[in-house]
Amino acid sequence: MPSSFDPTSSTAATLPVHCVAEPDYAQWRSQQSDAVRAWLDAACFLPERGRWSLLPDMQRSGATAVVVGLGKTIPDTLGWFWMAAGLADRLPGGQYQLVTLPPSGARLACALGWLHGQYRYQGYRAGGERPHPPLLVPLAGVDQRYVNAATGATCWARDLINTPANDFGPAELEREAAGLATRCGGQLQVVAGEQLQRDFPLIAAVGQGSPRAARLLDLRFACPGAPRITLVGKGVCFDTGGLDMKNSTGMALMKKDMGGAAAALATARLLRELDVPLELRVLVPAVENSVDGGAMRPGDVLRSRKGLSVEITNTDAEGRLVLADALALACEEQPDLIVDFATLTGAARVALGPELPPIYSGDAALLLQLQQQGQAVADPLWPMPLWDPYDDELASRIADLNNAPGGGMAGSITAALFLRRFVTAPQRWVHLDIYGWNQRERPGRPQGAEAQGIRAVASLLAQRHA
Ligand code: BES
Ligand code: MN
Ligand code: ZN
Repeated sequence: MPSSFDPTSSTAATLPVHCVAEPDYAQWRSQQSDAVRAWLDAACFLPERGRWSLLPDMQRSGATAVVVGLGKTIPDTLGWFWMAAGLADRLPGGQYQLVTLPPSGARLACALGWLHGQYRYQGYRAGGERPHPPLLVPLAGVDQRYVNAATGATCWARDLINTPANDFGPAELEREAAGLATRCGGQLQVVAGEQLQRDFPLIAAVGQGSPRAARLLDLRFACPGAPRITLVGKGVCFDTGGLDMKNSTGMALMKKDMGGAAAALATARLLRELDVPLELRVLVPAVENSVDGGAMRPGDVLRSRKGLSVEITNTDAEGRLVLADALALACEEQPDLIVDFATLTGAARVALGPELPPIYSGDAALLLQLQQQGQAVADPLWPMPLWDPYDDELASRIADLNNAPGGGMAGSITAALFLRRFVTAPQRWVHLDIYGWNQRERPGRPQGAEAQGIRAVASLLAQRHA
């Protein structure tokens, strides 16, 4: 977990950070000493977004300040987040203070970005740690407790997603949920074995081709009388595609297919650490979608917990199956809101790209609210329609519905429509189709796990229900 600034232990000098946009650069440069100007020119510094330079101290060896370019215009909230993350990723150890204050709406994003930018996955080799990470002097008006809790939650989720599947199966996902229960005062119940087969047939079916036993994790944090919220997370610890097997490119990243579970657990952790009064439940179907002689087959028809029969037209559409039974259970106690997180479709990435998860709900106003909350905390999400005319794509000749519509179009929407069939009150349900991964390395965005939706959903719940 990245460290934040601690005023009691700080003795070192603080370096001011000047953030300069391109239109202001000439004037800013003219106010600097001859030596600094010469330095900037020698370094060919340009105030492009995210470029930065230490400014030299001509009396002593060392730096006196930092200049960072903002680009042509002042960044938006998300722009500040990634710019701060990039700085924290690359600046040398020391203490820094932003002397050019970002607009008030972006200060929180700056503080969040700074800490998130220091994340590195350290699971399997030594030497990546930074003994002296750069520290940011807290910005006026920013709730540092929130910043620390949000960063801790995200980094935990990223660690879970980054852990390779050989060391992270359903049992390890259960262990992490148990750890969260201990840490945050929750109660974990686990359904497995015969009871899972009987009560959660779709979860059991998806897991039955793997030697690593499937289970349903049911985690509760009591807060009597408070609004009842249920978070659901897709916990497919590895997705081979089952018998309709993925090819090598498609399978390469599938350790991340429990990204929804990681996000749901991390959202619960954040809400608990902020003491948001909610009667909170987290449901995680934890399985591995693999193949052996007992694996479910294309053409199989399965009876779901809700009673609907499902024809398996593709065993690779397994996420919606495990979620269907978990959502059906969630609905049985009619909570005030259900939010599910899932790395559900490749089509979501085709539609909106890896950085902008589509969100769905039967309540359009709720979706807009979630989108706005996400924007305020640099956790972008985008509303998509539960388009009724596509619902007939789910028809089957022999069952109530099929799990993988043949047309292959609007895949993220038809997956959401599939889930909706298992939700009793879609206006009290939100679905996030997340990607969970940074494909390319950029400043502040290490290639690897990305936990999406945690801050946005936590803010929505804190604002709307608490
Ligand atoms: N876990 C995948 C979806 C996925 C793939 C998410 C790549 C992120 C990146 C899911 O289980 C899946 O395989 N979905 C299929 C559904 C299809 C068979 C109807 C897909 O999206 O291709
Ligand atoms: Mn799949
Ligand atoms: Zn999957």
